[in-house]
Amino acid sequence: MWRGLIEAYRDRLPVSEATPVVTLHEGNTPLVPAPVLSQRTGADVYLKVEGANPTGSFKDRGMTMAVSKAVEEGSKAIICASTGNTSASAAAYAARAGLTCAVLVPQGKIALGKLAQALVHGAKLLQVDGNFDDCLALASKLSQDFPVSLVNSVNIFRLHGQKTAAFEIVESLGRAPDIHCLPVGNAGNIAAYWMGYQEDHAAGNSKILPKMYGFQASGAAPIVNGQVVQEPSTIATAIRIGNPASWTKALDARDSSGGLISAVTDREILSAYRLLAREVGVFVELGSAASVAGLLQQAEAGKIPAGGTVVCTVTGHGLKDPEWAISTAPSPTTIQNDVLAAARSLDLA
Ligand code: F0G
Repeated sequence: MWRGLIEAYRDRLPVSEATPVVTLHEGNTPLVPAPVLSQRTGADVYLKVEGANPTGSFKDRGMTMAVSKAVEEGSKAIICASTGNTSASAAAYAARAGLTCAVLVPQGKIALGKLAQALVHGAKLLQVDGNFDDCLALASKLSQDFPVSLVNSVNIFRLHGQKTAAFEIVESLGRAPDIHCLPVGNAGNIAAYWMGYQEDHAAGNSKILPKMYGFQASGAAPIVNGQVVQEPSTIATAIRIGNPASWTKALDARDSSGGLISAVTDREILSAYRLLAREVGVFVELGSAASVAGLLQQAEAGKIPAGGTVVCTVTGHGLKDPEWAISTAPSPTTIQNDVLAAARSLDLA
């Protein structure tokens, strides 16, 4: 039986017998082949579907570690800044552990499902008149001055938890992919995957290391532009970040893997979002579609070798943002309770 990633990878994580494991049995997510994307790119493409985690995003991998370590250290309260998913995950794991959870989010800029999750799990939710970067500065200051543990990805335990996604991929494929694509926001996840792949390589589990391809939204692309974006803007609110905390680590992942960090437009993100839902059967949130948007963009530019193996992480579930989904999908048809009316509406009669 799968008992969560700490039990699965105990010997490769900074935990001991004394660590109280706080888990919702996160991890062990599907690696799903995406034939439509393989056809379009000429590569062998898989999706690592992180929306299948307990709170619907990859954040659960980091949170099981961060919250377990917070409890081990005697913390009674945790705090985070978030574009939504971190707050949902922190709230759930805090509820599980009996901790108080405070979350700071940019007012009006987080998806409805994520807001619901944080509230339902009982987090103290503060909506800040500012962006994510302002929220993170506030949360960091609060954790320095008051007895509360910061569980953003600047907390190294988060990255250790998240690196296990790379372990799972190597186990499934028997080696690392040639290219790994993922969205970049605060840049913790690209750093975590790179850590995981390097550890697997050093342990002899994969003969090769992947090239790390990270994608930011073009209105929130500080790493691509080489400078802080004061007012980041994108429809992909999850990655609406102008000053990523793990900037240097992301550059290291890019450069030591021989990869790239590039920008995708909101239009490209939306088109990948639709393609994933309509032709691959996987419903992801907008921010997650940036990885696939990036893959398609790079394939057009000839940067994806034919026959290579590519994994795209799709980081969060589409149901996180029901408002967006409904507003962009075709409207339902209302009919009378009548077979012929139904048949006509379905073009059957
Ligand atoms: N995809 C989704 C769905 C996210 O929620 C995030 C980050 C990312 C990608 C980017 O990952 O920050 O490690 O580069 N969300 C954070 C949050 C910032 O608060 O939920 P990253």
